[in-house]
Amino acid sequence: MRRIKTQTEDDIPIVEPWPEWIGDKLALTPPMGWNSFYGFGQNVSEQMIRETADVMVAQGLKDVGYEYIGIDDLWQGGRDEKGFLYPDPERFPSGIKALSDYVHSKGFKFGIYSDAGIKTCCGKVGSYLYEEKDASTFASWGVDLLKYDYCFAPNDYEEATRRYTQMGNALKATGRDILYSVCEWGVRSPWLWARKAGGHMWRVSFDVGDCWDSPRNVASPIGILTAIDAMADLEQFSGPGGWNDPDMLVVGLKGTGFIGGPGCAEIEYQTQMSMWCMLHAPLIIGCDVRNMSESTKRILTNKEIIAIDQDVLGRQGYRVHRKNGLETWKKPLSNNHIAIALLNRSEVAVNASVEWQALELSQHKEYVMRNVWRHEDIDILSPRFSQTVLPHECKVFVLTPKE
Ligand code: GLA
Repeated sequence: MRRIKTQTEDDIPIVEPWPEWIGDKLALTPPMGWNSFYGFGQNVSEQMIRETADVMVAQGLKDVGYEYIGIDDLWQGGRDEKGFLYPDPERFPSGIKALSDYVHSKGFKFGIYSDAGIKTCCGKVGSYLYEEKDASTFASWGVDLLKYDYCFAPNDYEEATRRYTQMGNALKATGRDILYSVCEWGVRSPWLWARKAGGHMWRVSFDVGDCWDSPRNVASPIGILTAIDAMADLEQFSGPGGWNDPDMLVVGLKGTGFIGGPGCAEIEYQTQMSMWCMLHAPLIIGCDVRNMSESTKRILTNKEIIAIDQDVLGRQGYRVHRKNGLETWKKPLSNNHIAIALLNRSEVAVNASVEWQALELSQHKEYVMRNVWRHEDIDILSPRFSQTVLPHECKVFVLTPKE
């Protein structure tokens, strides 16, 4: 157990978290990037990926830390007579190596997708029985991240761990640093074994759709709230080198994405960003950044919320209180800073009154409290504070101890 529950924050020792887990140092903080699937599905192409790379530089997404540009499913053409994978010649006429070179030339890392079964989730050719061959193909193309899905594969846990380990070993054997993203949707508790299989992140839930609330479901995407609930209580399994992954950011899809869903209000997208950062989750953008609105850009590029996600202590936030739809989450940060989130799941505005004690904070310590969305400091006069939280809003504060 990683979280040490004690009376006050003062009692929690500052630890170098999980040095034995860190492994190859590829994911010391949660990976940040962009992925093609939820925005584009089958409309992925080399032209679109190039434009995305250009825009991510021009719009400042690269500057705030988004690093990986990943093609998801539906890039595949098939296997040639020697068993080598090749891309869809119409969508990728220049080949994957040329595309990866372009992405690298813009200062990004390049991601690709395959599946541990005979076919991918969209029915393209999978990597089963071709693990070593495909891993070395990916390495020769300059791939830096592999998202590895689990459609058309047996249900059982032993076979899943075996297949993920086999690809994990194959990636390592290439000698190239390839971040390994395990995607079996949390069905077989991957937080217990994915790190050992070589994984640097592992999905804890089914696909997140462009919707606020929708229950856990294998056949259709889940809502933002459901993904948050899937992450709750898993904090002891996440840390430098390997992260719980509640799936991609639907911020900015606005009901037009391939993943489906009615779309979310701006405040709900901001809440997704807030909670993903509180949960120390990978931040993988799903929308078409070429047509980002100002509000989408504001949410995705807020450096103060991203700093919470990328904090070097690497601790996933946890829920300390929930009542009548209002939740309080806490996330210890480096240098004794603390992030606090107030999440209002309900349909009415709530006046939240929070006691230091409920947050396991010392009554004797004074803090400067910063609202990371309003970019302003708030004076706290006593070991409690109150805030109005709008329906579906998540307010996030960073507490800095006063000397
Ligand atoms: C699964 C994954 C998604 C996406 C699709 C591609 O549903 O969970 O994230 O990669 O497959 O087909």
